[in-house]
Amino acid sequence: MKKITIVIDGPAGSGKSTVSQKLAKKLGYTYLDSGALYRSIALKASHKKVKSQNSQQLYRLCKNSIIAFKKKEGKQHVFLDHKDITQKIRTRKISLLASLYSKLPVVRKALLYQQQKLGKKGGMVAEGRDLGTVVFPKAELKFFLIASLKERAKRRYLELKEKFKKISLRHIEKEIQKRDKEDSKRALAPLKKAKDAISLDTTSLTIDQVVSRMYKEFLKRV
Ligand code: DC
Repeated sequence: MKKITIVIDGPAGSGKSTVSQKLAKKLGYTYLDSGALYRSIALKASHKKVKSQNSQQLYRLCKNSIIAFKKKEGKQHVFLDHKDITQKIRTRKISLLASLYSKLPVVRKALLYQQQKLGKKGGMVAEGRDLGTVVFPKAELKFFLIASLKERAKRRYLELKEKFKKISLRHIEKEIQKRDKEDSKRALAPLKKAKDAISLDTTSLTIDQVVSRMYKEFLKRV
């Protein structure tokens, strides 16, 4: 069967990660979590205290970073300069910092190249914000996921409340709203639906229902 490139874009909490991983597994495709790349750079820049205004230092930092994905006990782990940072990049602080650093042309340029290199062979499900518009504009199958702000905040709340007992739903809703605004209004490669992407509102759909709809579209393409 022909191996194609599938991209899934959408805002935080729209369900991209879970469905992308499930779809990739079902098809035997590789999975690219582009947000993890931005999160890794944000983590390193914050450790090294490289300010977002310092383009030259940021350029060097991106150039000298080795970001890799490896499977461990069936789960994808993220490695930065050979260290496992899977947990470290999932904090709320890194979410907000990733959104900030991802606005910068120098960061986007460096990561664009990395993503395109990873996707060269096809047979990939890639998720993010600009995959259908900028990174893989020729992808054979594109989805744009949406869900209500309330539902997205609820999903994040359920994910985070085990770890952060004091977290409130209202607070998460505000953080997501802030990130939505930052990701959509930036000048470069903003969160945007590609013209040829299929919109899916996941507010009242289960993960399996979303994957099954995507699979049907996949079968039409191969
Ligand atoms: O998908 P995520 O929540 O892990 O992404 C973290 C941040 O990275 C997000 O707020 C914006 C940025 N990002 C981006 O600008 N472009 C992408 N393709 C993926 C993520």
